[in-house]
Amino acid sequence: MQHELSRRSFLRGSAASAAGAGVIGAGSAFVGPASAAQTDGPPVVGPVAALLTLRVNGVTRTLQIEPRTTLAEALRGPLGLTGTKIACDRGACSACTVWLDGVTVCACMMLAVEVGARSVTTIEGLAKGEHLHPVQAAFIEHDALQCGFCTPGMVMSCAALLEHTPNPSVDEVNAAISGHLCRCGTYPHVVAATLAAAKARKA
Ligand code: FES
Ligand code: FES
Repeated sequence: MQHELSRRSFLRGSAASAAGAGVIGAGSAFVGPASAAQTDGPPVVGPVAALLTLRVNGVTRTLQIEPRTTLAEALRGPLGLTGTKIACDRGACSACTVWLDGVTVCACMMLAVEVGARSVTTIEGLAKGEHLHPVQAAFIEHDALQCGFCTPGMVMSCAALLEHTPNPSVDEVNAAISGHLCRCGTYPHVVAATLAAAKARKA
């Protein structure tokens, strides 16, 4: 009995915290209907699928997902952007790296509903039409990939580095990819490619 009471208290407390923090509903881009049980306070959406709008690679997309869906799952599933990889699914490898308003994040570690009005850039949004981003071109030129599973995430982090550090040192490139795990061991080639991309951008 004591156990049951404690569990209820916990669930009540969790619901209040989520509503107070606006995790679901307020501040998000959810456009689906609020729960029928909700009478006041911030709108609560879910647990069933609801409509959400996201701005991805410059395009506003509407998708129907459960609020528990991670950004990585939303990108790869309903949005069909499978360039973003899910490897560990727990924030340990950075394979799922995308940009949120130009800042790198692990897309497996946040809910799609948390994105709100921020702009998402994935590996599919890096090239300009037929023209690869300099980092993408340099990765090919320098054989900076083998199986390629870590590569989209690596490219997103290296490209982000060049946005704010156009002329990085080796140490700065190493720091930028320090959260990325590559089991094929491409790290030296990734560093060489990023330094070459920096030069190409200047030229
Ligand atoms: S898949 Fe996201 S950090 Fe590994
Ligand atoms: S190229 Fe295979 S995991 Fe990095």
